[in-house]
Amino acid sequence: MKILVTAGPTREHLDPVRFISNRSTGKMGFAVAERAALRGHDVTLIAGPVSLATPVNVQRVDVTSARDMLAAVLAHLPQADALVMCAAVADWRPKETSAKKLKKREMAAVLELEPNPDILATIRPQKGGRTFVGFAAETGDPLPEARRKLTDKGLDLIVANDVSLPGSGFAVDTNLVTLVARNGDPETLPLLDKRAVADHIVAWLERNAPCAT
Ligand code: PMT
Repeated sequence: MKILVTAGPTREHLDPVRFISNRSTGKMGFAVAERAALRGHDVTLIAGPVSLATPVNVQRVDVTSARDMLAAVLAHLPQADALVMCAAVADWRPKETSAKKLKKREMAAVLELEPNPDILATIRPQKGGRTFVGFAAETGDPLPEARRKLTDKGLDLIVANDVSLPGSGFAVDTNLVTLVARNGDPETLPLLDKRAVADHIVAWLERNAPCAT
């Protein structure tokens, strides 16, 4: 199977030294890419700014902003059978950016923002027979929002994680997730190493993607 994976945060620059971002380290998405490649799949990994080594036998594309990530996903999607959107894409970006470092005295106290494109919503018309997996990062019970995102974003599977629990979510080696498929009952996994969570996601794709080989 040809699997496209996104991982890490995006950075939305205000000037060359300041940006809006989030706590994603890329560990979860890189684990998906690594385990899928180990199982013999053809993997392309679109990575936001992270400091992780490229997994063996994975083709890596580095991006910075949400718009860069969207462009990379659009470029690689036609060749993919499945997409795993693990990246924590910044929903907003500064309305204005400066090519030179802004002086403190030049900056307003209030930062004006504009929305970034929703990557999954933008590519939905190109889904065709492909299998789309998303993640839902929530604080508190992730299931209601995960179910809403599964439907609204046209996904086949969503991996819901409560990022407020110890050992779960951002910047740790483990994750506590529930797999919520469009058809079927939710499957809550125990607290596992992110590589073991990745194995479950890859195994789900192997069982459910139409072109799973
Ligand atoms: O990288 P780590 O430190 O290992 O942390 C892992 C993680 C917490 C980042 C990961 O497990 C996770 O939950 N990733 C998704 C984070 C997220 O952005 O969730 P969301 O609920 O805001 O977005 C829902 C889905 O829409 C996601 O699949 C996201 O990639 C996608 N999205 C979001 C915003 C946007 N503009 N476009 C999108 O396509």
